Amino acid sequence: MLYKEEGPGDVSPETKAIHVRHVSDPARALTPPLYQTSTFTFPDMETADRVLKGEEKGFVYSRGGNPTVAQFESALSELEGGEASRAFASGMGAISALLIHLAKGGRSVIVPKYLYIGTRAFVQKFLIPWDIPVHWFDPRDPSWTDSMQGLLAGNAGAVFVETPSNPTLDIIDLSLLARLCREANVPLVVDNTFASPVLQRPIAFGASVVVHSATKYLGGHGDLLGGVLTGPAEIVSKVASDEGSFLGATLSPFNAWLILRGIKTLHIRMQAHCDRAEEIASFLAGHPKVCSVRYPGLAGHPGHDTARRQMRRFGGMLSFELASSVEARRVANRLEIFQIGVSLGDPGSLIEHPWSMSHRLLSEADRLSSGVTPGLLRMSVGLEGLTDLVRDLDRALSS
Ligand SMILES: Cc1ncc(COP(=O)(O)O)c(C=O)c1O
Repeated sequence: MLYKEEGPGDVSPETKAIHVRHVSDPARALTPPLYQTSTFTFPDMETADRVLKGEEKGFVYSRGGNPTVAQFESALSELEGGEASRAFASGMGAISALLIHLAKGGRSVIVPKYLYIGTRAFVQKFLIPWDIPVHWFDPRDPSWTDSMQGLLAGNAGAVFVETPSNPTLDIIDLSLLARLCREANVPLVVDNTFASPVLQRPIAFGASVVVHSATKYLGGHGDLLGGVLTGPAEIVSKVASDEGSFLGATLSPFNAWLILRGIKTLHIRMQAHCDRAEEIASFLAGHPKVCSVRYPGLAGHPGHDTARRQMRRFGGMLSFELASSVEARRVANRLEIFQIGVSLGDPGSLIEHPWSMSHRLLSEADRLSSGVTPGLLRMSVGLEGLTDLVRDLDRALSS
């Protein structure tokens, strides 16, 4: 048997991340074997019959499953506390497959106004033209729970949220939303990309499914694209056998191997990202050129108390507002250590101007209603020296 089921037992998540369930390897290599293969062979037709019928464990073709990818999936199930996981070629691969699955039969999808631009584009370019009802809610509206109950009472297939959200760092109360979803028997899906399972485990608060862009903190080095979803075996196995296999957004074994390597340092990296982001948020909050800072770790953030309840720390992502688009672009240009770029979760600090970069294709009205103002800058605080990062920002803001 290629794939060994034993995990490391009842140990801390840090230990689990390093000693993930492993593929048995006669050579006893320290790092997981990389099965860089498209297909798998059978010793005889009878074995092929048993494997293909599911009577015996085994791998057939890497679009359906691969031992290195399976190892990454096991790691995510351990880290998120879910029954099963399925890996994808990117975060959008996971999100699109899952939403297509949950919306089947014309069931509605409920999403917040503050949502990663790619998920928003998928909803607008695919779900809506396919006549799948999409309902938007505003988590900043104090009465959002009332409207949510009404939406859930319809033929809802899923509620899909991000917390913290990209790029506005909005926080949604997971226990509260999960209770409403549970009462209505509608799966709650949480995009946990910004927090990572080190800082937040949505399933423990009642979410059904967690999705990640593994491109970000899980991979952690800015050198790959990947995605994953974790949740009840019933949902995950159906998505794996249908959308996961036939839409074709399959994670490559090499990328799974790289993400497994990244996960080993996830805990220590997340702590270091948080250490720096917390200090930078305070620095920016006290800077006269900065109009406002959106970081859930700041006591003035509207979601601070909720974030304290559901997150271990507040993450490495923050956004701040300058007086205008011109000023935001000027500051981005003056930075030397922060690089201008749209991704996040890498060792190197990145900054983006959503108004002219990630959200540029939205109308001004749509940008504003999704919380993106002309002066907003979003940063992914990396792992460089804190004093260097603060000096870089100070110089760019002051000159
Ligand atoms: C919160 C969030 N979810 C999903 C995605 C999509 O992930 P990918 O780029 O790996 O497809 C991103 C990408 O930036 C993201 O920030």
